Amino acid sequence: IDFRKTHFVISAPDIEHLEQNLPGNDGIEIAFAGRSNAGKSSALNALTEQKNLARTSKTPGRTQLINVFETAAGCRLVDLPGYGFAQVPLAMKKKWQQALGEYLQHRECLQGVVVLMDIRHPLKDLDMQMVQWSVESQLPVLVLLTKSDKLTQSARMKTVNDVRKALANFGDAVRVEGFSSLKGTGKPKVLSILTEWFTG
Ligand code: GTP
Ligand code: MG
Repeated sequence: IDFRKTHFVISAPDIEHLEQNLPGNDGIEIAFAGRSNAGKSSALNALTEQKNLARTSKTPGRTQLINVFETAAGCRLVDLPGYGFAQVPLAMKKKWQQALGEYLQHRECLQGVVVLMDIRHPLKDLDMQMVQWSVESQLPVLVLLTKSDKLTQSARMKTVNDVRKALANFGDAVRVEGFSSLKGTGKPKVLSILTEWFTG
């Protein structure tokens, strides 16, 4: 699978529209989930070696649509809107969390979930919820500790180890890797896991 061939397919405002336009019984999907500003869109750009595939921003809450990209026929990467953004009204946050839960629990073509967390602020309640939902749905999880370039090598290794320990009770279903879109750290590892999920 050549991730550089990834192209935009569709944007959907919510799960219902996604399901209508791209029925979940078709193809394979890998979702990118994480708090606002965690680096989801940047990671997608880095992994596909494209500068502007997914829109990135310094302002949290940039991605408010579900953006779907296709890497190879029927193999899709999904950039989900970030959760936990402070400025969003509580009712909207609740609604989006519920929609995320439904997507993770019921989207038939979903084959794996990448949960991205800023390496300086990992394992918030909602991050744990995403991991929990995914594991309960029998989906493998790749936790990416993003912006690893912001820490020294030793601090980075310590955080990766701490997060691995904290998630050890999930067993092999959950993997944890450091990642930097800026430096490309962790890219080969992530691409091999995504390929594994796409090709079963
Ligand atoms: P939402 O769409 O709002 O949910 O955010 P997102 O998770 O898609 O984050 P995005 O990729 O837009 O990145 C947010 C900010 O973090 C931007 O200013 C990026 O430049 C920065 N950023 C992302 N990845 C990295 C990284 O690996 N290293 C550094 N230093 N900054 C990064
Ligand atoms: Mg984004």
